Amino acid sequence: MKFFLDTANIKEIREGQQMGVLDGVTTNPSLVAKEGRAFKETVLEICEVVQGPVSVEVTATDLEGMLEQGRAYAKWNRHVVVKLPTTREGVKSCKALTQEGIKVNMTLCFSATQALLVAKAGATYVSPFVGRLDDISSNGITLVQEIVHIYKNYAYSTQVLAASLRHPMHVVEAALAGAHVGTMPFKVLEMMFHHPLTDLGLEKFAKDWEKANLKDLEKAMK
Ligand code: G3P
Repeated sequence: MKFFLDTANIKEIREGQQMGVLDGVTTNPSLVAKEGRAFKETVLEICEVVQGPVSVEVTATDLEGMLEQGRAYAKWNRHVVVKLPTTREGVKSCKALTQEGIKVNMTLCFSATQALLVAKAGATYVSPFVGRLDDISSNGITLVQEIVHIYKNYAYSTQVLAASLRHPMHVVEAALAGAHVGTMPFKVLEMMFHHPLTDLGLEKFAKDWEKANLKDLEKAMK
């Protein structure tokens, strides 16, 4: 499973990169706006750090506008993946941009029917929003399972990018469902490291070591 960070915060992205587990980044207009920095400059810096796919979302909702923004973003850096909403116009834009060799991530996907449409239009990624479905008393992970199943049935090449993951168990469930990618906020990635038994175990090892008072560690390391 590939791990993407769902953030436009460069400090978080640098830290994720240093952890050695980061494969890409997803952004959206809300996340970019939160940083209060120039849009293009932010995207270019993220691409430089990640050296992997970086989803950059269009703000236009009409076909011409989406195509214009998508083509412009794609020229910024080879790592840019154009993020489009899963609407009728979005699917048309997906088909057109894909035919031009531009990678596309179809976002705001909330149903298996939408996922089928974007796969047929040649999307590189589909982004089912897990947490937002859970928010309305539906089941986001069930949707991820359905999409993975359908794509396997027809050998679609579109990758399932589980988004709106709010906690570590969402990541685990998305992995169990076979999602190709999980995109998560930095705090979720951090939470995945923690286990109280790891901390307790380390504490015990350190105490036992100290008690034994062995003097030969430095010598043994030479
Ligand atoms: O990748 C989509 C993500 O930003 C949405 O997450 O938590 O706002 O539903 P959330």
